[in-house]
Amino acid sequence: MQTLNVDLADRSYPIYIGEQLLQSHELLVRHLRSRQVFVVTNDTIAPLYLQPLIELLDGHQVDSVVLPDGEEYKTLETLNRLFDGLLEARHNRTTTVLALGGGVVGDMAGFGAACYQRGVDFIQLPTTLLAMVDSSVGGKTGVNHRLGKNMIGAFYQPRAVIADMSTLETLPARELSAGLAEVIKYGLIADEEFFEWLESNIPDLLAKDPKALAYAVKRSCENKARVVAQDEREGGLRAILNLGHTFGHAIETAQGYGVWLHGEAVAAGMVMAADLSHRRGAISAGELDRLVALLERAHLPVKAPATMTPDDFIRLMGVDKKVLDGRLRLVLLEKMGKALITDDIEPDLLQETFAACRADERDAPPGA
Ligand code: NAD
Ligand code: GLY
Repeated sequence: MQTLNVDLADRSYPIYIGEQLLQSHELLVRHLRSRQVFVVTNDTIAPLYLQPLIELLDGHQVDSVVLPDGEEYKTLETLNRLFDGLLEARHNRTTTVLALGGGVVGDMAGFGAACYQRGVDFIQLPTTLLAMVDSSVGGKTGVNHRLGKNMIGAFYQPRAVIADMSTLETLPARELSAGLAEVIKYGLIADEEFFEWLESNIPDLLAKDPKALAYAVKRSCENKARVVAQDEREGGLRAILNLGHTFGHAIETAQGYGVWLHGEAVAAGMVMAADLSHRRGAISAGELDRLVALLERAHLPVKAPATMTPDDFIRLMGVDKKVLDGRLRLVLLEKMGKALITDDIEPDLLQETFAACRADERDAPPGA
């Protein structure tokens, strides 16, 4: 097992990365404040991992809620089921919420924990690659609103992140690829050496080689923890973690939540950000091609949906949280391995990027 630390003064916490960690009683109880535990999971993950977890916590009061699976259920309505369960089983302020699942479960369980009785402990037990490398770390929690993704939420840090790599054995290939989009993002924004490592090791990652996956998770979490430690509440630097996300959120919203996976939308969005960076002279055509090739090898989309017009993008990017004082702010590349945040966007170049990055109508959408 490897242990990293997210350094946030009195809100610091460990990230444990290893095989079979969900079978370690000692590790699970290490961060519990009382005998009350409330597991939040969904109806795909529950049959795989819930019962062994409940048995491992024998002697505790373990209650659980099994939510419907899907991004479209990441809503305030669904969150009420969590509060119903906590209140019906009389959980008090010393309870600990365990988020067993991917980013959807983690974001909802974390937000639920932030709200329940004005805040109870929670532990992230991520079971997707995306959740292990991104959503379980850093304390962004929340739900979607009809008018925008992740628009209702809170910064609320977990007490620990326990990434049991063995859970990836059951993860579908498409979900693994979606997680790789966020992994590739770290190489692009902050770690060129890691980007090169990914170019050499993508076949091992796709084949779920345990050593390669553990290295990718560790290196991604190190990168994320470093940024979060410097800027927990996204006053500035942390926004670099959103490379590709402004375009990606527009794609997710336009297609309807859950049609494109989050990581898929981020992949196409990263190409758009890199394309615009190239048009601004920050990276070469060869470097843009390297990104496109790596994403394609990871089985990720590299174009926006054919149905989306430039106006769709502008409209949907207008409700993004990164808009300040009516000016669009984007995360772009200063060079390979270094991101920058700018509101100095050339409208003509942006239009060129929309045109260059739109899929052909004959292209199959992701998952087809
Ligand atoms: P997800 O939670 O929807 O999980 C993907 C699918 O895999 C689901 O069907 C799930 O039930 C299934 N699954 C999960 N673990 C499995 C396993 N081990 N075996 C088999 N099936 C499994 O999606 P995700 O990609 O993990 O997360 C996406 C969400 O995370 C989005 O809502 C996004 O907004 C959010 N997110 C949040 C942050 C953050 O900082 N909080 C960062 C990135 C993404
Ligand atoms: N996923 C972006 C962040 O955590 O800030």
